Amino acid sequence: MTDNVRRLDLRGQTLVASGFHAPVRGTIDWLEDALIAIDEDGLIVSVTRPGEAEYEMAKREAGRAGRLATLPAGTILLPGFVDLHIHAPQYAQLGRGLDVPLEVWLHRYTFPLEARYADTAFAGRVYRRLVDDLLANGTTTALYFATAHVEASNLLADICLERGQRALVGKVAMDDPAGCPDYYRDASPEASVESTRAVIGHIRAMPGNAKGRVLPVVTPRFIPACTDAALQGLGDLARDCGCRVQTHCSESDWAHGHVLARHGMTDAASLDRFGLLTAGGVLAHSNFLTADDMDLLVARKAAVAHCPVSNAYFAGSVFPLKAALEKGVRVGLGTDISGGPIATMLDAMRGAVMASRMLESGVDPDLPPEQRSSRAGARIDFRDAFHLATAGGGDALELPVGRFEPGCHFDALAIDCEAPQGGIRLWGTEAGDDLLQTILYTASRPNLARIWVGGAQVG
Ligand code: GUN
Ligand code: FE
Repeated sequence: MTDNVRRLDLRGQTLVASGFHAPVRGTIDWLEDALIAIDEDGLIVSVTRPGEAEYEMAKREAGRAGRLATLPAGTILLPGFVDLHIHAPQYAQLGRGLDVPLEVWLHRYTFPLEARYADTAFAGRVYRRLVDDLLANGTTTALYFATAHVEASNLLADICLERGQRALVGKVAMDDPAGCPDYYRDASPEASVESTRAVIGHIRAMPGNAKGRVLPVVTPRFIPACTDAALQGLGDLARDCGCRVQTHCSESDWAHGHVLARHGMTDAASLDRFGLLTAGGVLAHSNFLTADDMDLLVARKAAVAHCPVSNAYFAGSVFPLKAALEKGVRVGLGTDISGGPIATMLDAMRGAVMASRMLESGVDPDLPPEQRSSRAGARIDFRDAFHLATAGGGDALELPVGRFEPGCHFDALAIDCEAPQGGIRLWGTEAGDDLLQTILYTASRPNLARIWVGGAQVG
């Protein structure tokens, strides 16, 4: 069944493969020659390991029925990556404008660019390129901010469905004349709510989307861009429509300070008043969460999208990831394109590890080590990062993705560890967690040989 050229459709097949997943944070599960049975809907039915009673018979039966698929030697299976925070329109400025603060970047680069998505031909060109690139980079699920335009937001959802990416798409709501330019904002709080409702309706009615491959998300940009009336209307809409919510929370000193000054409380507390902290919902960044904020997120089952690469440019601090995890906050990772200039979740994982190490050690070389350390025990390792980029993202969204377990979608990557153009170089001694670490730190796009979403190969 192995086919190195044609797409490999695994719906209704049983795959024999070796690979890693991290269903529980901190531990890696190695599957060696496991049998993964996938149904016609792309859901995993069973995962059987050699030595288990049914293994030999299941393998024989799948082979006899012509439903046994194998991967080439040297291929390692990983769950697909979940990008928990990404601005689709900003792909057209990837790598630009990161030498100024957030509030300058928004008005000088980002709002003018996003305003151009009134042109759906331009939107289509960028969005097709983006979705294809993300899939090729292993992002099988993405939680997108689109723009304030209904048509271009609808188009992003159409393109995700057409290309086969699992996606959640939000039309950006931003109506406050004090925080948004005249040329790019919703006309009123009512317009924010009604345009959001229109995109929710479009996504739910898209032909071919009956199973919800693409989902709508209520998306107030952030408190500084929204009036209180819009925030309240959007909270009500999310409740009435049963929709997830995403927004930015306490990203930088400026953004955090704006909400403290305007509402007299933290972002998280204020968002909660409007009904915007919900299960399956995602707060991007959240760098300045207090301990009480973290408790609130836990109570509401709202998640943080940790965006370590972007935070290096805009946040002015490092997200206290380990503290949040230890409190039980749901956390996943995001690229935050284009606040983060790298379109792969591999770099979000690498960045999360690096940022946590610097938070633990401290960064000022003029201080002696005992004074330099800023947070003892703040580090995570590649195991945690891998969990966050896969199962953690799925848990944040309350979607069954990121694990090789019965009931989960078969969203997966075949890593070719021998691709000549790729970054991975193996020397024959790597095994177990070491092998995973090598893959995560050195893989590049040519190593991602095949990508599946719901059992169907995409890209
Ligand atoms: N805060 C409000 N809008 C944005 C955005 O587009 N990117 C980032 N990083 N932060 C924001
Ligand atoms: Fe963002």
